[in-house]
Amino acid sequence: METTLLIIKPDAVQRGLMGRILCRIEEKGLKILGLRMQLLSRQRAEHLYEPHKNKAFFERLVHFITSGPLVSVVVGGEDAIRQIRHMMGATDCREAAPGTIRGDYGLSIQNNLVHGSDSWESAQREIPIFFTEDEVLSYEKPEESWVYAGE
Ligand code: RTP
Ligand code: MG
Repeated sequence: METTLLIIKPDAVQRGLMGRILCRIEEKGLKILGLRMQLLSRQRAEHLYEPHKNKAFFERLVHFITSGPLVSVVVGGEDAIRQIRHMMGATDCREAAPGTIRGDYGLSIQNNLVHGSDSWESAQREIPIFFTEDEVLSYEKPEESWVYAGE
């Protein structure tokens, strides 16, 4: 099983979309292994977005992600990293396909509602910014035997 980090960004929290986004993850059959709501410190925000530190939008992005409470979620499942990226849609909400979170709920490139780790390496780097090892849980859900065909 793979784990990935999903962030419900401050715009989604303010717009009352966090429940709907969590619901989509559960409905897909993915498993929530860790959940936390917090106001992100500037230091942690800069750490999270370190790969973008030379981009023109870096300062604006750090300001945005620290501008209100966000929800961080560790999601587990087979192919979880790619599956969450599919569910998010394209970075620019105006280009994101209907049926994706960004395609259904957003109209901005920056205020694009969610973040998802883009690779296994990113997930390994990003999860510890939000969770200690013992805050990422491991548990069985009986429905899993119905979600996966065992292939
Ligand atoms: P994320 O990292 O949040 O999952 O999104 P992503 O991979 O689809 O997009 P990425 O290229 O990693 O960019 C990180 C976040 O920066 C903001 N952004 N603003 N031109 C702009 O103003 C611009 N471009 C990107 C978005 O919030 C994006 O999610
Ligand atoms: Mg990214």
